[in-house]
Amino acid sequence: MAQIVYLNRQFLPIDQAYVPVLDRGFIFGDGVYELIPVYSRRPFRVQEHLRRLQSSLDGIRLTNPLGEAEWIDLIQELIRHNEPEDQSLYLQVTRGVAPRDHAFPKDTPPTIFMMSNPLVIASRSLCETGVHAVSAVDNRWGRCDIKAISLLPNVLLRQLAVDAGCMETILFRDGMLTEGSLSNIFAVKDGAILAPPKDHHMLPGITYDLVLELASANVIPVRTGKFDLAQIRAADELWLTSSTREVLPVVTLDKQAIADGKPGPLFWKMHGLYQDYKQRVMRQPA
Ligand SMILES: Cc1ncc(COP(=O)(O)O)c(C=O)c1O
Repeated sequence: MAQIVYLNRQFLPIDQAYVPVLDRGFIFGDGVYELIPVYSRRPFRVQEHLRRLQSSLDGIRLTNPLGEAEWIDLIQELIRHNEPEDQSLYLQVTRGVAPRDHAFPKDTPPTIFMMSNPLVIASRSLCETGVHAVSAVDNRWGRCDIKAISLLPNVLLRQLAVDAGCMETILFRDGMLTEGSLSNIFAVKDGAILAPPKDHHMLPGITYDLVLELASANVIPVRTGKFDLAQIRAADELWLTSSTREVLPVVTLDKQAIADGKPGPLFWKMHGLYQDYKQRVMRQPA
């Protein structure tokens, strides 16, 4: 079965989907996106993703081309068109096709593109060994809360991790933890989860919110605040979270072990809570 994508009102095989070169997504990176995990053909936390899409669109002053029900119908149709039971559903909206000019074009329809790829979540053995990270200065712009397609800084920062044989680059702005190049970051100290605050310097992760919801429902203490590199190095545990990686333990930072260099007990507790939550949601009637 060919990979089917959605482009401007049409479902078609990916190799037949083309966007004009003057699309502002191509020329300026002028657009926003979402990535929604799909388990057993059901999109996970889709309302939350669509709410964040709305706030990203508001952030770039682009009118949402579709209502929530229309988005959900399209998402479900795209899931049906593709084979895997578990999918990673990417959608993006750009400011459309117009002669190159920084100023917003008038009356230009946005470009809507959606694709589905197989969702590969972290294996049990990756949870058992943990992953490695490097640290770097967060040199991105001041609106990291917008899920913008212009990801060049994230691309360059993530490559630092790849070059060092690591999974993630953990970012510090003015010396304080913000997030990862493609994930949110939590630490654990003395039984409490340490969470950087949701502000313009980090993406408000759907998984970040879920981790804090699960912590609150299970009376796990959370301290939201600013944490510097020394505090993060001295943490008992370090985690990264994202829709496709779920919750993963980071066991070294810049080649130095976090605590004993093994996934900690609170990671395993949160991992279990997350998996139970997923199973519960997936069992609910559609
Ligand atoms: C920069 C950044 N922060 C955080 C996240 C995690 O967000 P979510 O949990 O919604 O996937 C992502 C996910 O792609 C990201 O790119």
